[in-house]
Amino acid sequence: MVDSPSFETLIKSPVIPVIVLSEVQLAIPLTEVLIDSGLTVIEITLRTEVAIPAIRMISNAFPKAIIGAGTVTTNEQIFLARDAGASFAISPGISQKMYQAANSSSLPFLPGVATPSEILMAKEAGFSICKFFPSEELGGVERLEMFAQIFPDMKFCPTGGISEANLASYLSLASVPVVAGSWIAPEVLILAKDWVEIEARAQRALEIVGKTGKA
Ligand code: 3PG
Repeated sequence: MVDSPSFETLIKSPVIPVIVLSEVQLAIPLTEVLIDSGLTVIEITLRTEVAIPAIRMISNAFPKAIIGAGTVTTNEQIFLARDAGASFAISPGISQKMYQAANSSSLPFLPGVATPSEILMAKEAGFSICKFFPSEELGGVERLEMFAQIFPDMKFCPTGGISEANLASYLSLASVPVVAGSWIAPEVLILAKDWVEIEARAQRALEIVGKTGKA
């Protein structure tokens, strides 16, 4: 059976910055800012060529950082992410082949779901937490409230359209221990090396987390 990233691991940091990195040399200063701000679980999306080398660099330089490889859409990426030092893999979707690959890689895996059928598939595969994606487009908090009635044991990491404006309402849901999103460190701020603004966004996010009691 595939392991989810452990519940304790994910909720160590209830806000996961989703990173799209196009310049590998920015991996270290960016991670430093995020970790110093208190965000220790970070998703590096496999949407760029430098993502795997960046995961390797970050894992070596920051052994305490918990790096998830995001946007995983092929079985091969699961093994590449594991070998680069990722602590878990996140996919926008779920398929039988992919969770079999996650199982044989032994890399904890967070599958993406959007519908009741996909949640059922994830439950049947043994997952207790899924990425809910793209959250805002799918109805966000209201849809998750409905899912909580149907699947009371399932936890979700909503992703897609999360921001400072709606973070508190997501984290107020019992079924949401953690959210992920790119708003803390969007690509434009990373490329501009605007570490001050990224740090300010991380701190504001953590203030919101603190008020929800999920710190
Ligand atoms: C992801 O890759 O998980 C999403 O693109 C993040 O969505 P956001 O950019 O709306 O936060």
